[in-house]
Amino acid sequence: MNRPIGLFDSGFGGLTVMKEVVRHLPNENLIYLGDTANLPYGNKSPQTIIELAQQNATFLLSKQIKLLIIACHTACSRALETLQKSLPIPIIGVIQPGVELLLRTTRTQRVAILGTTSTIESGVFQSLIQKTHPHVQIYPIACPLFVPLIEEGHHNTQAATLIAHSYLEPLKKAKVDTVLLACTHYPLMRAVLQQVLGPDVQLVEPAELCAIQAREFLQSSQLLNTQNEKPHYEFYASDDPEKFRRLGKHFLGDEIQFTAKII
Ligand code: DGL
Repeated sequence: MNRPIGLFDSGFGGLTVMKEVVRHLPNENLIYLGDTANLPYGNKSPQTIIELAQQNATFLLSKQIKLLIIACHTACSRALETLQKSLPIPIIGVIQPGVELLLRTTRTQRVAILGTTSTIESGVFQSLIQKTHPHVQIYPIACPLFVPLIEEGHHNTQAATLIAHSYLEPLKKAKVDTVLLACTHYPLMRAVLQQVLGPDVQLVEPAELCAIQAREFLQSSQLLNTQNEKPHYEFYASDDPEKFRRLGKHFLGDEIQFTAKII
């Protein structure tokens, strides 16, 4: 079936997921929406985040998508259930794969979760982990300044390192061995975070496992695109598509045709 897969995020963080979807589902047509007019989601109320997620999903549904990937932890933590109940298409999020990876990776059962204020306050990671692994020690940390730094292209600067030091200070005593990047923007700060946390800490992110789960789902539901044409990628932003194109293009690499339209 050649209908596209839709992905959305508040900005270009979700492109970290799209990149893996391109790798694991190279035949699929994709439509990406960055809701840059409403960025960041992480400091908004749950109700507002649900409404924004609904708007994004409605836009992507109008493009006849066959599967929706919510490439945003904040939107997943607040709106996944509501959207799953109300939309007529399957939805995959980033939270479940992140939890799976975190539990698979930790040896010491001491883990940290970095996310936006809303994701951390939702408590969704804490309750999912505790349900099956009550002995795991969890250190959740909200890092609200990371997303604006990344969206402005300042994620590899001294300012980013200083801010990361200040957010991650409590982890020095916590002795965690695994840290989940529970925001699709944070992989862009991976180098800085690894440097601040030290080489013994493993950083994990759900993008690849999310793409693999999407492939498995499409395979088992016989929804894979079996036509052998070059896939078509479309990008939309709700504000300043030129800025989105400039930064996003740099991130996705030259092999992907990148122009962004306004919704
Ligand atoms: N990329 C997002 C996430 O995964 C949203 C960041 C934001 O808009 O605050 O949570």
